[in-house]
Amino acid sequence: MNADLLKKLAAEKAAEEISSGMIVGLGTGSTVQFTLEKISTKIKNGELKNIRCIPSSNNTEKEALRLGIPLTNFGELIMNNGELRINDQNSLSIINYQLSIDITIDGADEVDESLNLIKGGGGALLREKILAQASKRLVIIVDESKLSKHLGTKWSVPVEVIQFAASVEQKYLESLGAKVLQRKNADGKDYITDENNFILDANFGEIKNPEELAVLLNQRAGIVEHGIFIGMTSELICAMNDGSVNVKQSANSFM
Ligand code: A5P
Repeated sequence: MNADLLKKLAAEKAAEEISSGMIVGLGTGSTVQFTLEKISTKIKNGELKNIRCIPSSNNTEKEALRLGIPLTNFGELIMNNGELRINDQNSLSIINYQLSIDITIDGADEVDESLNLIKGGGGALLREKILAQASKRLVIIVDESKLSKHLGTKWSVPVEVIQFAASVEQKYLESLGAKVLQRKNADGKDYITDENNFILDANFGEIKNPEELAVLLNQRAGIVEHGIFIGMTSELICAMNDGSVNVKQSANSFM
């Protein structure tokens, strides 16, 4: 089956998980695009009411606005969901707020058997991880080509670094055994993320211990974030090549 058709199958199945009134995190990429379109249709035909969405990239934000999907942000969530209190110093503060997204739907570049992920092929890994960490449920939508026994066999690990630190963090990644390429645009200019950083694509080959690698990447000041997502996926919705759609919760296996 055609790759776009598979993406659409997984993406539309995920849209069924959204109910009226929810706060929804919107991922980034070509698979999520089909979810955005489905959400838009459901809003227009009245099936979905009062949802508010937080986009994970400028691209997704633009698309959501074009499709008439209502947007919000973390600041607004606190304002709307918190209690306003006057404290001892007579100043106002917001307390007891619930800062959580009900569900985030996002794609991935590679998914292993434990539902750990490599993300960031589209450059949005930082905001995507922020949404994932703030969500009650992270639903990942992929087609079968993204499934992998071990992370790193199909995709390099995107590592977002501040521009000042790019060379030194490249050396660090190389010292861990990676072949590293700084991401460029088609015109050869530096690729710049929505947060004004560079991306180093670090090819580690098959990653035996993603948890350990994540710790090594987390400890560097110049590394803002990396594309290894460990233990964050609640459900994987995977469109298989034969057109069937499998749903895997964090514990059972269809691979
Ligand atoms: C964006 O930065 C990525 O994490 C995407 O979620 C990932 O690259 C999947 O994109 P596609 O759905 O386009 O393959």
